[in-house]
Amino acid sequence: MTNTVIILAAGKGTRMNSRLPKVLQPLAGQSLLSHVLGTVRQLGQQVSLGTPIVVYGHGGKEVQASCAGQPLEWVEQAEQKGTGHAVQMVLPVLPQDGVSLILSGDVPLMGVGTLQRLMDAASSGMAMLSVRLENPTGYGRIVRDAAGQIQRIVEQKDASDAEKQISEINPGVYCVANALLHRLLPRLSNNNAQGEYYLTDIIGMAVAEGIVIGSASPDHEFEIEGVNDKAQLAQLERRWQRHQVDQLLKQGVTVIDPARLDIRGRVTVGKDVLLDVNVILEGECQLGDGVEIGAGSILRNVQLGAGTQVKPYTLMEDVRIGQNAEIGPFARLRPDTVLADETRIGNFVEVKKSTLGTGSKVNHLAYIGDAVIGSQVNVGAGTITCNYDGANKHQTTIEDQAFIGSNSSLVAPIHIGAGATVGAGSVVTKNVPEHQLAIARGQQRNTANFTRPVKNK
Ligand code: UD1
Ligand code: CA
Repeated sequence: MTNTVIILAAGKGTRMNSRLPKVLQPLAGQSLLSHVLGTVRQLGQQVSLGTPIVVYGHGGKEVQASCAGQPLEWVEQAEQKGTGHAVQMVLPVLPQDGVSLILSGDVPLMGVGTLQRLMDAASSGMAMLSVRLENPTGYGRIVRDAAGQIQRIVEQKDASDAEKQISEINPGVYCVANALLHRLLPRLSNNNAQGEYYLTDIIGMAVAEGIVIGSASPDHEFEIEGVNDKAQLAQLERRWQRHQVDQLLKQGVTVIDPARLDIRGRVTVGKDVLLDVNVILEGECQLGDGVEIGAGSILRNVQLGAGTQVKPYTLMEDVRIGQNAEIGPFARLRPDTVLADETRIGNFVEVKKSTLGTGSKVNHLAYIGDAVIGSQVNVGAGTITCNYDGANKHQTTIEDQAFIGSNSSLVAPIHIGAGATVGAGSVVTKNVPEHQLAIARGQQRNTANFTRPVKNK
């Protein structure tokens, strides 16, 4: 049987005080909504889920554009009349059988394991998450009877003083049989303190029908945390970062300062990886055994082989590097750079869409773009591949064991043969055959008895 996921994302998020719709605010480099969708995707690998349904309202176009290409069903809630009203909007497209998992677009860090347990708890037809909080203020409270069975939910604004003392809260995540949603939702009223149609009221209604409400607890408290303003967003960001760092520490990573490492994506690590302060890892990063990342480095979608060292303040994106390479400090590796084992990229070197063979070195102040460089090549300081003629990009090829003298300009398309040497300061516009020396610079003239001009008095 296929189940349904409903994501409520119509709220305005006024308290964010931002032009961006609330569910598009970024947490760990990804929008709140895309965190939720990522979790749903993972859950879909364990249980059968239909195309997720997103209830949208404010900023609908922008929210939809942010999810372009993802299989989603969009249901509009033009006016925000409450969470119950939001799910009512889904009824016309909701199957009669199966269950619905109801999530909030502004609760980004819900865990897959927690959701699975919630679904398992819904055999009676309805289950909700539940958690006890030291400070339950603001949340709906879970009212249980003497036998400990869930009776109903009361919102903060509707709660009596005694009910406000209840510390068990409703995180707003439910699993409900679709048949129940079809039967109960049309009967909601908005006769309450906020004049809204409360989704939470279906719990009391189901209990009245004799249904026992199941419940499950989250693995971590941060999973149920919603984001309503920038302060909560910042706080949740820190909590999530700390949680991710803790996972790395458990895997044996040395993190010099857990408060100064940010992970905006996923990291896989080998043994004895070291991450210095103010490192940012984005997208998918794979760090092999013994990799060390120096202070202030930012790495996005990288694969680093065992023993590779990244010195401080290095920037790299979409890069694959072999073993025992040494990169930086102050290097910039741009997309589609592939560096073999034991390569060396030094300070103030930019590499783009290029490959370097084993042991090749570009140590100082160079630009390598659209180049294929063989193994054991030495590229001298200040060398530039002139890859762009103002209209098109052209390729530079440098074969094994070539030596490019300092401050050379290699005007592409160009081919430097194996073992060839380019004299320092050359502007190379013609191919260099293997093992030959190319010098392309003005000849030096020395003038004897030269007197320097003197300053006029
Ligand atoms: C809701 C629960 C409350 C719970 C809390 C957990 C109700 C009545 N109350 O309260 O018991 O403790 O969540 O965070 O459900 N939304 C819509 N359309 C609407 C209203 C809301 O799509 O008309 C969406 C919001 O975008 C948000 C989610 O539903 O993603 C929850 O709405 P929100 O207003 O934050 O819920 P609360 O009133 O805080
Ligand atoms: Ca509300």
